[in-house]
Amino acid sequence: MSTDRVVLVTGGNRGIGRAIAERFVTEGYRVAVTARSGEGPEGTLTVRADVTDAASLDAAFTEVEQQLGPVAVVVANAGITKDTLLLRMTEDDFDSVVSTNLGGTFRVVKRASKGMLRAKWGRVILISSVVGLYGSAGQINYSSSKAALVGFARSLTRELGARGITANVVAPGFIETDMTAALPADTQAEYQRNIPAGRFATADEVAGVVTWLASDDAAYISGAVIPVDGGLGMGH
Ligand SMILES: NC(=O)c1ccc[n+]([C@@H]2O[C@H](COP(=O)([O-])OP(=O)(O)OC[C@H]3O[C@@H](n4cnc5c(N)ncnc54)[C@H](OP(=O)(O)O)[C@@H]3O)[C@@H](O)[C@H]2O)c1
Repeated sequence: MSTDRVVLVTGGNRGIGRAIAERFVTEGYRVAVTARSGEGPEGTLTVRADVTDAASLDAAFTEVEQQLGPVAVVVANAGITKDTLLLRMTEDDFDSVVSTNLGGTFRVVKRASKGMLRAKWGRVILISSVVGLYGSAGQINYSSSKAALVGFARSLTRELGARGITANVVAPGFIETDMTAALPADTQAEYQRNIPAGRFATADEVAGVVTWLASDDAAYISGAVIPVDGGLGMGH
């Protein structure tokens, strides 16, 4: 199925966001990515934005609307980690992660919702993490910000569900990107031992689930948390 709807992916210059943007291009969507540095994949429009700055996001959305049309699908993907144990975690470690991962999602989705309400159609897809519901030592800031996305999508579903808009959460497990490459080798080995699939995933395996959630086949799915984690988080 091909569609020329407009998609905006935050943090589409690398990692999972880049793979998501590539998939949408392959499926025929008109795709824009936000990037603080670098460029999105071939066939995408790159706009500059920092998700901690509402004004930069507003300008980015306006540019996308002018060049491609109203945004029908938004993927809130940009995210950071600042891992350390609770007693060592500074206010800044906590605030910066929450402001990027949760606050960034708020700013992006708020701006996107205007056009979706006008169109009476929209897809909101939030990239969370298995650790949001599973928990993770050393990630109080990160896991809290990711768990909050579940409440976000469910509240949004209750607010906008009758307007043709769905909001879902994708919760990846261990995906091979710069974020996970930064983890110590023994942490990576321990993760791998605990994953029923016995392997890590590629970013493209997350992208396929995201494009499916954006499709007409997923029109009646909202407020869901879809794990893409090889079974790591089952029951959480
Ligand atoms: N990798 C995993 O195993 C995994 C697992 C579960 C969930 N996730 C989630 O998946 C998402 C993508 O992760 P990834 O592994 O692809 O990470 P990554 O390779 O580190 O890429 C992060 C992306 O977010 C962007 N970003 C960070 N802060 C931003 C800000 N303030 N404003 C705008 N963009 C910003 C980065 O832009 P710059 O290039 O400009 O820094 C980059 O494009 C994140 O939300 C992450 O929490 C990842």
